[in-house]
Amino acid sequence: MTIKIALLGFGTVASGVPFLLRENAEKITTAAGSNIEIAKVLVRDDAEKNSLIEKGHQYNFVTSIDDILTDSDIDIVIELMGRIEPAKTFITQALQAKKHVVTANKDLLALHGAELLAIAAENDVALYYEAAVAGGIPILRTLVNSYQSDKITKILGVVNGTSNFMMTKMVDEGWTYDEALAEASRLGYAESDPTNDVDGIDAAYKMVLLSQFAFGMTINFDDVRHEGIRNITPEDVDLAQKLGFVIKLVGEIVERKSGIYAEVVPTFLPIEHQLATVNGVMNAVFVESIGIGEAMFYGPGAGQKPTATSVVADIIALSQGINKGEKLLPFNTFTRDTVYAQKED
Ligand code: HSE
Repeated sequence: MTIKIALLGFGTVASGVPFLLRENAEKITTAAGSNIEIAKVLVRDDAEKNSLIEKGHQYNFVTSIDDILTDSDIDIVIELMGRIEPAKTFITQALQAKKHVVTANKDLLALHGAELLAIAAENDVALYYEAAVAGGIPILRTLVNSYQSDKITKILGVVNGTSNFMMTKMVDEGWTYDEALAEASRLGYAESDPTNDVDGIDAAYKMVLLSQFAFGMTINFDDVRHEGIRNITPEDVDLAQKLGFVIKLVGEIVERKSGIYAEVVPTFLPIEHQLATVNGVMNAVFVESIGIGEAMFYGPGAGQKPTATSVVADIIALSQGINKGEKLLPFNTFTRDTVYAQKED
């Protein structure tokens, strides 16, 4: 049997998917129980299609989502376009066409995830998104599956690679914020509009998703207090160093009696704290729980192959369910109501 997939978008991450399917074909086929075939690839327009064909790509490129929605052979749609629209519309349409969906789109999931998961459930299909938080760290499934016997009490995360790269340069090399941003832009880490990275918005989106997996509760993005690194000066960095700390942009989620509290703020971390060792574009999620105690999951938070690895893990998980003919489990269920707690209560 062959599982047919369609890619929406053929940017950096999307082109990592065929790399893994090719290089790791035997293992992936065995795990999935099927060959995985890229049946169609949606691109923006004919110009992009022609340019990809000229570069030697031999996929069945289409420029209309309808070509995918009406193709009953396609089982799974992989959305890797990013941003809110048209990704939201396309995912909604794919779910309504009874296709399973995999995405890495944390902005969309943090702002509209509950709505999209409800549409998936109504249509008896699944929406998986392991790649949406800390792209190369298999953290979301781990928080659900490997912590079933445990109870998580706190999450700390350095989950924005761009701002962590900048803070590392500001701490280790004494660079100013502007110098660090210029280098992050030059290296292609920062977007042309770096607002979401430097103002803590991207990390706050990830806190919304982590709260669902670690605590079974979701939190509204607007309730996640977030402050970025724009105002950090070399004097702040020096002061922290003199006192035995490093400054990093840290996301935190804690369970309180009345619910959960989440924030993203520049934080003085003691230099001996494991998160203080997370440098450059790397990410880490530090988990405190009543059983394991302290554990840290460290790895690349972005990049073609790391993110594609998580995307393909979702494709395998969906394929296993499809092959068994089982109703696929939701990736995540919010078993408890959304409750927003105060920081201290
Ligand atoms: N802009 C994000 C970062 C990409 O810098 O971490 C991965 O979500």
